[in-house]
Order: sequence, then structure tokens, then C-alpha cells
Amino acid sequence: MNSKISFQDVVKTFPLKGAEFTALDRVSLEVADQEFVTVVGPSGCGKSTLLSMAAGLQDPTCGRVLVDGTPVTGPGPDRGVIFQQYALFPWLTVRQNVEFGLKLAAVPTQERRHRADQAIGLVGLDDFADALPKALSGGMKQRCAIARAYAVDPQVLLMDEPFGALDALTRVQLQDQLLATWSREKRTVLFITHDVDEAVYLASRVVVMAARPGRIHRIIDVDLPYPRTEEIRLSADFRQIRNTVWTAVYHQEHAAPAA
Ligand SMILES: Nc1ncnc2c1ncn2[C@@H]1O[C@H](COP(=O)(O)OP(=O)(O)OP(=O)(O)O)[C@@H](O)[C@H]1O
Ligand SMILES: [Mg+2]
Repeated sequence: MNSKISFQDVVKTFPLKGAEFTALDRVSLEVADQEFVTVVGPSGCGKSTLLSMAAGLQDPTCGRVLVDGTPVTGPGPDRGVIFQQYALFPWLTVRQNVEFGLKLAAVPTQERRHRADQAIGLVGLDDFADALPKALSGGMKQRCAIARAYAVDPQVLLMDEPFGALDALTRVQLQDQLLATWSREKRTVLFITHDVDEAVYLASRVVVMAARPGRIHRIIDVDLPYPRTEEIRLSADFRQIRNTVWTAVYHQEHAAPAA
């Protein structure tokens, strides 16, 4: 397989009360180029930790994380990250926040403005481009953070519950927009969510994790065609896969740790 992101026997431990806490225990996962993979699992099973290692924000304790076959040593413009907690600069306007990454990438002023406005339009924040984050609702802040990642146009999108704070309608709209962008621009997406419907609707594979220690419990193929439509969302096939994922996530009491 042509892997874009590769987790190889990744272990992550943190010190806890004088001992070691294993947040991730030998996680191996290959994400193919242009694949859309979602990750679900109970709170604390290590989803954000996994994503942050692909983002280059944390190092594995053991094992390796590769992007394009090269070990990750830090963040880079090839990977756009959307955090679970929207991280906006409070003193910058929506447009300035969105332009921030482009500025770092030395994109010329005019193009910066154009790309920022395009991304702001995609998430429906046109009327708030000049507003400061304090004037936005939680969902709007999150949409601003999404626009910031989209504007840089990275090959890899690492998204940590990006739509979690949004109302149901905005959420569905942004899911469809994300899928449209993904299929047009052929990006690779690793997407964490608590929402099983969302996990199935977006992905070609759903990774189900288990906790204590954090590990991969199951990987479920989503054998549904793209483009995903409302019809697919309402289909019996969708329901069946959704139920399989649901059972894997919420009935883990029998999930034995990997030997
Ligand atoms: N910097 C850290 N120091 C110590 N422990 C940490 C640190 N970061 C994460 N952990 C621990 O590692 C485990 C996994 O955390 P992580 O944030 O990856 O979980 P998660 O699956 O994203 O959970 P949630 O669904 O609640 O967001 C948790 O038990 C957490 O307490
Ligand atoms: Mg998390």
C-alpha cells in the first residue's frame, strides 16, 4: 500500500504518580494516500495523542510515525491540524487568524487575502471576517479554526473532533463540504470523532480504539460509494455498518488488550 501516514508499533507513555501511564500501546496503522480514515473510541483512549504525533507535536515513546515515508520531526505546512479545542489568537480577527498560516508559509499578501476569504466563505463566516474571536459563538470559532487549516491547502488534514461543537445542521453542511473538498483536491484525512454516524458517513475505514491501554480494537471497512449522499445516509447498508461500529465502540467490555 502507498502509505501517506504510517504509525509503526507506536507506544506513548506519560509519567503518572511516580509510575508510567500507557496512553497508547503498540498502535500500528497505515493510512493510504488520498484515503479518508476516521477514528472513534472512548474518552481517554489516546485519539488526540495519536493525531498529535502525526502532527509532529508529540514524539512517540517507542515506535515510529512516518508521513510520506519520512519520520515526523515536527509540524509542517504539508499537514493541516484542527484541534479539539479551537486555538485562535484572540487579538487577531477571523481573517487574520485564517491568514496566519499563510503568512508563515510566506504566501504573498494578495494571494493570502484571496485564499483566506475563500476558506472563510467555505465555512460561512463571510460576515464575520473582521470580527475578533470574542465576538463569535463556540461553533463559529471552530469554523474559523477549520478555515485556517483549509486555507493552507495541506496534503494531509489531521482533524480532532472538528465538528463537535457545531449544531446538527452546520455539522452536516461542513461534512458535505469536507467530502467535496477531499474528493476534488484528493487529500489524505485522519479525522477523530465521537459521532459514529459521522465516522461512517465520511470514511472509507473506521478505526475503533479501546482504552486502558489505548490501542486499536477493530478497523471496519465502510463499503459505501462516494460521493456520499443523503440517500446513502438513510440506506440499510449505512445502518448496518453504523451498528457494527456502534457495537465495537460501546460494547468493549469484552475487548481484551492485545497480547
Ligand atoms: N500531556 C499529557 N500528560 C499526561 N497524560 C496525558 C497527556 N496527554 C494525554 N494524557 C493521557 O493520555 C490518555 C489519552 O489522552 P487523549 O487526549 O489522547 O485521549 P482522547 O482519546 O483524545 O480522549 P477524548 O475523547 O476525551 O478527547 C488520557 O488518559 C490522558 O490523561
Ligand atoms: Mg481527544
